[in-house]
Amino acid sequence: GGAEAAELAKQRISRRRFLRRSMLAVWGVSATASVAGALFYMFPNLSGGFGSAITVGKASEFKPSKPADFKLEIQGVYHRPTARAYIIHLDPSTEFLLNGQALKDQLTSENVLKDPKDGSYWIALYQKCVHLGCTVPFRDNCVSFKCPCHGSHYNVTGEFLDGPAPRSLDRFQMTLQGMMLS
Ligand code: FES
Repeated sequence: GGAEAAELAKQRISRRRFLRRSMLAVWGVSATASVAGALFYMFPNLSGGFGSAITVGKASEFKPSKPADFKLEIQGVYHRPTARAYIIHLDPSTEFLLNGQALKDQLTSENVLKDPKDGSYWIALYQKCVHLGCTVPFRDNCVSFKCPCHGSHYNVTGEFLDGPAPRSLDRFQMTLQGMMLS
């Protein structure tokens, strides 16, 4: 009935408020980290053949383009069109099951950078769909990448979920360079 709907709406609003507050806390931490002025350089995958290193920019230049999802402990998803990449920043405590496999275990895979400073994870994904090359937008409401062309679907780490794509999104090799001020 109407009372139930009102109650539901109320819950939803307070959940949203909670999420927003959580995000602010997360970004407070990130802003402190960015004072360190860490630089990210990216090296394309062997198969990519794009040539030499791409400088993605200072950590302080990263702006949260998408809200973090508190439950998944995603600190940020950043689109860097000039580098044709998405930079994914995941909290060290991230736990997310995909096909029964914890994200933590997937994160031991190739081309995932573990930040020695706080144990968080960085992943750089090539923005092109591995089906026919459309740019794949990140959908914050589903915390995943969905290709607008033929519907290929990838999780936040770029792992293939469903659709016509033959495999997961390509990951760039990434190294963290720069000074850490403690
Ligand atoms: Fe992305 Fe076809 S190009 S699904």
